[in-house]
Amino acid sequence: MNFIPYGKQSISDDDINIVIETLKSDFLTTGLKVNEFEQKIYEKTNAKYCVSVSNGTAALHLSAIALLEKNDKVLTTPNSFLATSNAILYAGAKPVFIDICSDGSIDLNICEEHLKKDSSIKAIFAVSFSGKILNQEKLKYLKNKYNIKILEDNAHTMGVKLTHSDISIFSFHPVKHITTAEGGAIVTNDKKLYEKIKSLRNHGQDDKHNMTMLGFNYRLSDINCALGISQMSKLEKFIIRRQEIAQKYNDTFDNHKVIKPLYPYTPNSYYHLFVVLIDFNKLTFSKEELINKLRIKNIGVQVHYKPINKQKYYNSIGYGNEYTPNMDNYINRCISLPIYPLLTNNEQDYVIKTLLELLND
Ligand SMILES: Cc1ncc(COP(=O)(O)O)c(C=O)c1O
Repeated sequence: MNFIPYGKQSISDDDINIVIETLKSDFLTTGLKVNEFEQKIYEKTNAKYCVSVSNGTAALHLSAIALLEKNDKVLTTPNSFLATSNAILYAGAKPVFIDICSDGSIDLNICEEHLKKDSSIKAIFAVSFSGKILNQEKLKYLKNKYNIKILEDNAHTMGVKLTHSDISIFSFHPVKHITTAEGGAIVTNDKKLYEKIKSLRNHGQDDKHNMTMLGFNYRLSDINCALGISQMSKLEKFIIRRQEIAQKYNDTFDNHKVIKPLYPYTPNSYYHLFVVLIDFNKLTFSKEELINKLRIKNIGVQVHYKPINKQKYYNSIGYGNEYTPNMDNYINRCISLPIYPLLTNNEQDYVIKTLLELLND
């Protein structure tokens, strides 16, 4: 069996052809492909506006600058890629790490306990972890009741509708639902936020090239956007295939005594990741040893995520001792299994068989 990674892109000839066409065209950047890609994203997400940017981290950076003031406190999750909370720091604001709930995403009830006690909290940066859509009703309630900003980091949930939140961001890194190689996007219904973010993307200039704020070059090229346009036409298909794979893993591990899915199968998840929890107390080997055993069998699994607040840099600025019992328990048990549209049934069967053999040993 060839090596099976936990995630990878799905590129076909139509993707390659549109990129070649764009390379032969007059505009490699700031051309029509950018607008076309952005239109596809705001239509898909039911949002009024979209700004494409050079990666998901840039999307978070610009959003944080547009939403936050210096020293604002922002509730966020330890269970994400570093960029979610780094963006809060880029804006001079202060992440406050909140424990996770049983589906791996930020516990919005604990968020409310903090909001009740502390009026200096100005925002929540929440992540639809693994692709499971965040509780929109609860986010709307918190936004209105406590007058805070909500950013949804939907890097794992490409195409999810924007409902009540101020901003939703996406990433088009190759392991995500669609790819532009590197790329990201911000969607919003707020015209002022849109205009500010659009200007920040282009050095802080307005349409007449007057610089009114300190911005960046976070533009996404026409070459990347052309690939994105082609990939967008397959997004539904990609999500359905991921859900099929998830359902099969789910049905296999549902009643097992050592391994279980992070949450029962739900069509409310776009399954960027399929996370399982393994009870290592019942096994004679550790998580690291299991990861190595799988690697020897040509299966790549991953851990999502080492808690951000426990990273060395975060320790150096005073984080790491937050009370997060669910996250502590989760990180001892979680593993992300291979899931991507091009994973074949044979490959998935091989992953399942190998894993069960190792666990039943
Ligand atoms: C939850 C989350 N947020 C943000 C990012 C950053 O996206 P990018 O890698 O495109 O900068 C990622 C990607 O790894 C992610 O998984």
